[in-house]
Amino acid sequence: MQLNERIPNNVDLSSNKRLLRALEHWQPAYIDWWRDMGPQGFQDHHQVYLRTAVSVDAAGWAHFDYVKLPDYRWGIFLAEPTRDRRIGFGDFKGQPVWQEVPGEFRNQLRRLIVVQGDTEPASVEQQRMLGQHCPSLYDLRNLFQVNVEEGRHLWAMVYLLHSYFGRDGREEAEALLERNSGNADSPRMLEAFNEPIDTWLDFFAFTMFTDRDGKSQLLSLSESSLDPLSRTTRFMLTEEAHHMFVGETGIARILERTCQLMKEAGFSEDVRKVGGIDIPLVQRFVNFWFSQSLDLHGSEVSSNAANYFTNGLKGRAEEDRYADDHVLSGSSYLLEVMDDSGRLSPTEVPMRNALNEVLRDWYVGDCQAGVDRWNKRVLEAHGLSERILLPSRKFNRKVGVYANRHFDPAGVSISAEEWERRKAEWLPTHADKEYLRSIQAIPVYKAGQFANYIAPPQRGVNRLPLDFEYVRTEA
Ligand SMILES: [Fe+2]
Ligand SMILES: [Fe+2]
Repeated sequence: MQLNERIPNNVDLSSNKRLLRALEHWQPAYIDWWRDMGPQGFQDHHQVYLRTAVSVDAAGWAHFDYVKLPDYRWGIFLAEPTRDRRIGFGDFKGQPVWQEVPGEFRNQLRRLIVVQGDTEPASVEQQRMLGQHCPSLYDLRNLFQVNVEEGRHLWAMVYLLHSYFGRDGREEAEALLERNSGNADSPRMLEAFNEPIDTWLDFFAFTMFTDRDGKSQLLSLSESSLDPLSRTTRFMLTEEAHHMFVGETGIARILERTCQLMKEAGFSEDVRKVGGIDIPLVQRFVNFWFSQSLDLHGSEVSSNAANYFTNGLKGRAEEDRYADDHVLSGSSYLLEVMDDSGRLSPTEVPMRNALNEVLRDWYVGDCQAGVDRWNKRVLEAHGLSERILLPSRKFNRKVGVYANRHFDPAGVSISAEEWERRKAEWLPTHADKEYLRSIQAIPVYKAGQFANYIAPPQRGVNRLPLDFEYVRTEA
């Protein structure tokens, strides 16, 4: 099959010879990367029941079938254009959106696209060993669904680089396959994407919290004046929703099973003795991945964020829901900032400079809604008094005004000694990791069966039964 037929797209690839040539050059390197750095042990002898986008309309964006992973058809899709779309914010508000990259914003836009693009293959690399420890075929299939879609998101960013950034864009597209998660010499660009994801609890917490950072970034990029960037990220959001579903329901199912096991064993019993995952352990993983993901939103006070907004490159999430003027030239944000004596005190910051924090506000609210669902639908429903709590946004930060200081999960400032003494209460420990590795040591590959530490989902994929063979091995 010709490459332009292999790549489902709505960008008229077959008549865009320049783009087609660039992709023909890049695609073999992508497949090599996918085989080396993608799901280990599932490349050649497995068929996976996956969703593939073959068009952007309701009928085509979720086409389900069995496919071998390296044969997945990674496509290029932009959401349908909005007629007479206008710039919605910043200094150019009201002008027509751009179909080409303005020279003066070329570097800033390329940077935004490369940073977003770098996260996509990074998470595939982080998750590559998980298939060998899966709790069920249903979960295995969901892992691969997330992985192929992160691969498609990389294609989406590479499409923009190849189409709008000339030779620089081609070089960036190659470099996106050369950096690797956790690699000492050429790591991924953002810290959370260099952390190993070697347990399924890490995977669920990552898809709950770090993919949700992806959602807030994509929402803000989908406001962009660069219309192809807006349309690309808008379509990515439809896929991203599934990733967060995997994370939220994954942890809900673990908590559900924990509650069942606690009831069976008697509430005073250590749930680990019966193979469950205790709630404090889950809380430590929530603390870790939530705080890592807060860092991804950048410094509280940021001139980059101000420039992106001023120039119309990156808006707020759901920009039109804000009741203000969308220009923000005179407004301010009340932020706790460190003064010269090292104390935190409320300070007014020009709103444009506080936009990372504004996006973080949106993100924290979206996370809180998910945590509330766990508490209400699982812990409260089982009559337990324990609750999962989001830690303070000051806790465990490596970026911004709270970095290099210590706070407990409630946000109370503590000494370095107290932090050292107590951090094992708050963050995943070696023993936690060892325990999780022990209960996932034997993977569950039998259709309809689930590991002891996780409850089955409420329904199967695409209305199929839970005992459907979501991943099948070729003879
Ligand atoms: Fe993604
Ligand atoms: Fe994602």
